[in-house]
Amino acid sequence: MGDRTLRVGLIGLGGVCAAVHYPGFARIPGVEIAGLCEANAEQLARRQREWGIAAGFTDAQELLKQVKPDAVVISTPNVSHREQVLRALDAGCHVLCEKPLGMTVPETVEMYDAARASGRRHMTAFTYRFVPGLTYLRSLVRTGALGEIRHARIQRLHDWGESSLGWRQYKAMAGSGELGDMGTHRIDYAEDVLGPIRSVCGAMKQVVLRDRTRDGQACEPQDVEDWVAWIAEFASGVTGVFEMGKLAKGRGPDGGHDFCELNGSDASAVYQLHTPHEILLAPRGQPYAPRPVPEEFLKRPGSPRDPNEGDPIQTFRYDQAWEFVSAIREGRECEPSFYHGMRAQAVAEAIMESVRSRQWVNVPTVKDSDE
Ligand SMILES: NC(=O)c1ccc[n+]([C@@H]2O[C@H](COP(=O)([O-])OP(=O)(O)OC[C@H]3O[C@@H](n4cnc5c(N)ncnc54)[C@H](O)[C@@H]3O)[C@@H](O)[C@H]2O)c1
Repeated sequence: MGDRTLRVGLIGLGGVCAAVHYPGFARIPGVEIAGLCEANAEQLARRQREWGIAAGFTDAQELLKQVKPDAVVISTPNVSHREQVLRALDAGCHVLCEKPLGMTVPETVEMYDAARASGRRHMTAFTYRFVPGLTYLRSLVRTGALGEIRHARIQRLHDWGESSLGWRQYKAMAGSGELGDMGTHRIDYAEDVLGPIRSVCGAMKQVVLRDRTRDGQACEPQDVEDWVAWIAEFASGVTGVFEMGKLAKGRGPDGGHDFCELNGSDASAVYQLHTPHEILLAPRGQPYAPRPVPEEFLKRPGSPRDPNEGDPIQTFRYDQAWEFVSAIREGRECEPSFYHGMRAQAVAEAIMESVRSRQWVNVPTVKDSDE
């Protein structure tokens, strides 16, 4: 790409775009947010005003045709990811797409194949890979500092209340509930830290109806799970116990928690989202004690972000945009790519199959990453 400005289009301007994508891309030198697309015209006009961007469209095809961006970020509801990804690749764009990458494994395979055939960069927005504490934990595992890892315990607990979650609570729009929403992030980071999951045994529950909006209006009841849990056997022999719930209070200061605990033969270690710059470490036979995340793990190399600026629980997320832009500039694969989006979908579907059949299910090898 040389020194040429990278022109980025943002598609779907809701919560995650405003909190993560816009601030992430806006701070990178040599990146121009060249156009916006949002189906809701009022929302589009508001974002155009807030962000001072003239080119705005309610149809993504118009954005692609008129703005001709080099790259797009897709943060629309899950049901539209496939079509938008394929169209953007067809228009010659590099694509960063939100998770879950698609609604089913075949959709994600199609998206991965199309991205590889296009020669463009492709990335799945598994944001938690960029938490400093988790990056440090991964390095402790990779360097053998914890010894042989035996057990993993991964939890995402929070209480979102009992009113409607909008598109997120319908299978037709989201594909699944808590599993696709919070579970796929944890499948991805667990495999990144510990290697592939070989088989799973899951349970799911829809706890409440969510048939009222926040302001008390009646709405279609939800038809997806509020809670999901599974045991995983990793190919390495590690056992993992995962639990995620939208009606499950956590122990963090915001009433939720995101937690990954590893028990190794030499030491145990814990990552927690609410202390992103610190982990807990316990050499064998000693109690846990806080350990600051070393400087080199506080941000991705070269990232324009100051790790000490702003709320560290939010700002690490901006490194996702930096990774995407860096991969485009350097002509290398993004980490995580669509391969990882496809892989997380395969594990998620094995969990769903296990819930349906009440049996352990092996995770199929969908494709090798270098195929
Ligand atoms: N990586 C993360 O940490 C993270 C966090 C939150 C959400 N997400 C994912 O991001 C996506 C969006 O989630 P959100 O919370 O921002 O939802 P949201 O409802 O806040 O925003 C989605 C926006 O897309 C717009 N939209 C819908 N269909 C569209 C279309 N065809 N073309 C253009 N715009 C369209 C909606 O009007 C809405 O403004 C989902 O896939 C979700 O799973 C990821």
